[in-house]
Amino acid sequence: MTLDYAICGTRNANVGLPTGSKILSEGGSALDAVEESIKLIENNPYDITVGFNGFPNLQGIVELDASIMDGKTRQAGSIAAVRNFRHPISIARKVMELSPHVMLVGEGAEKFARALGFVEEEIIDELGMRNYYKVMEGKSLEMPQEAQTLVRELFMKFDDHLKDVMEKYSVREWYRKLSFDKHGTTNVIALDREGNLAVGVSTSGLAMKFPGRVGDSPIFGAGIYCSEVAGAACTGTGELAIRLSTARLVVDRYERNLSLEESTKMGISDLKKINEKGVLHILSMDNRGFCRAFTNKDGIFHFYANSHMKNPEKRQSNFVDLTK
Ligand code: GLY
Repeated sequence: MTLDYAICGTRNANVGLPTGSKILSEGGSALDAVEESIKLIENNPYDITVGFNGFPNLQGIVELDASIMDGKTRQAGSIAAVRNFRHPISIARKVMELSPHVMLVGEGAEKFARALGFVEEEIIDELGMRNYYKVMEGKSLEMPQEAQTLVRELFMKFDDHLKDVMEKYSVREWYRKLSFDKHGTTNVIALDREGNLAVGVSTSGLAMKFPGRVGDSPIFGAGIYCSEVAGAACTGTGELAIRLSTARLVVDRYERNLSLEESTKMGISDLKKINEKGVLHILSMDNRGFCRAFTNKDGIFHFYANSHMKNPEKRQSNFVDLTK
């Protein structure tokens, strides 16, 4: 079956994919479909892992990362640790299209956005702050007493207590648990009628992250990659995808003639190479519009639509049991 266009996205992408699909059906570009889909996901106040009301860092400040990549040209743009802008995906696209760079971070990225007329605004409301305090108080995670104390101590005076707290508690262990429970991020991959692929990623990153922490989402090769033949993107514990170069490896293996299924599955199996807890979900699509998704956490799903389908359909992602 030949597909004229296709689009897929992670489990939180259902609010954006119908718009992306419509853009593709009308002959729009994969880049436009990706950006417009992700803008709608960034607007969703109930998604605590992306854009508006994304989960704040330890100090209660939302810092956003986003990236976009064009398969045909391999042009790419990303931003990281950006505060007070609602649509990081659109700023990332401008980095790709207008700047001489691939990635801008923090204050520099914010200056770039301001210069281009992006409007600064509060991107967390009462609901978002309530979610934050719930975690602070140990109410929304089954955290052992030690973890709750750790969070509070870090939160009270991050700068002064950081060294003490890291020595006193198993900070890494606690973050591993947190990243298993509180992760999200959105990935959208699109194939347009011209046969071009594009991938986009947007996230507020790991909940309660250290200020300045950057995950895999804005790092090309780690949380996102796109060539003319395939695109891949990740959600989950960003540190793992960075250490394993996950998205690039998925595309690379496909380019070396492994099937999309095998290439994507191997991205999860790679976790065995580093003895580290954490969760990853990998979404991929090739330039025929076929999509695959693998994860090491049971029960995760994604959405997919193509030129033969009326509405995006919910599909179960394949579980890889890493104990086997
Ligand atoms: N995968 C998103 C992050 O770790 O920031």
